[in-house]
Amino acid sequence: MTTHPTTAPLFAIASGKGGVGKTSLTLNLAALMAQQGQHVLLLDGDTGLANLDVQLNVQPVKDLAHVLAGQATLADIALPIPQLSQGKGSVTLLPGRAGHAGLTSVTQPQLTQLLTDLRTLTLTPSPTVILIDVAAGVAPAQLLMCAQSTATLLVTTPDPSSLTDAYALIKLLWQQHGTANTRLIVNQASKTEGTQVHTRLTTAAENFLKLPPLPLLGIIPTDKHYSQAVRAQRIAALTAPQSTAVEALETLLPNLV
Ligand SMILES: Nc1ncnc2c1ncn2[C@@H]1O[C@H](COP(=O)(O)OP(=O)(O)OP(=O)(O)O)[C@@H](O)[C@H]1O
Ligand SMILES: [Mg+2]
Repeated sequence: MTTHPTTAPLFAIASGKGGVGKTSLTLNLAALMAQQGQHVLLLDGDTGLANLDVQLNVQPVKDLAHVLAGQATLADIALPIPQLSQGKGSVTLLPGRAGHAGLTSVTQPQLTQLLTDLRTLTLTPSPTVILIDVAAGVAPAQLLMCAQSTATLLVTTPDPSSLTDAYALIKLLWQQHGTANTRLIVNQASKTEGTQVHTRLTTAAENFLKLPPLPLLGIIPTDKHYSQAVRAQRIAALTAPQSTAVEALETLLPNLV
């Protein structure tokens, strides 16, 4: 039987600099999407320091390391996440493993195969959207995940180093893959700061790379309820739905799917 690639959009949540909020945004987006009836497939694409499982407080028996070693298929490691599967939607995790030699040294052909398998993975219910939590940085693995996605959701804070690294990711994606699929999420920022960050990045990309304007997907404020949820291994979208960060994420969703 021939398996056709999914038509579900695939979003790579990426950043240049680390610690800007990718993992927590990925999980909150997944929870909100599931509430709206989407069937979300989550790939832990942080091949160095995977931690979606930690944040979800689940203990996978098999993970991507087994898949790369040929000991399991993606279907074998698919882990339903009931706490995020609210309403008619669902969330399924493809877990990674932190600090695993095989994963940290994943080759381009292995990764290409993994992404192909991801698109052809048959699950019940069928995924309607795929999210990849990409590792920070601009290494070949990160660039490939972004280049193979429908859109790269580039997360940055207003910190100058985060902004510089975000530009580096846009530049390398364009120069090495001919990909200009980036949409911007400015995290831990006021409206004014977020708008300034967007203007600076889009101006640089237009002037120096001759890229079209960079869409601004959303500006997420710093929110202590959100960080408290992260620390307690909870998902703010579920435990603090009225928090300003979750509300900002909700307003971003219609522009995404
Ligand atoms: N909008 C926000 N308000 C308050 N705290 C936030 C917000 N976004 C992220 N944080 C905090 O920033 C920290 C880093 O978040 P997270 O782990 O999601 O980042 P990351 O980009 O995935 O990091 P890494 O690059 O190491 O994978 C967490 O402690 C989280 O609580
Ligand atoms: Mg992370």
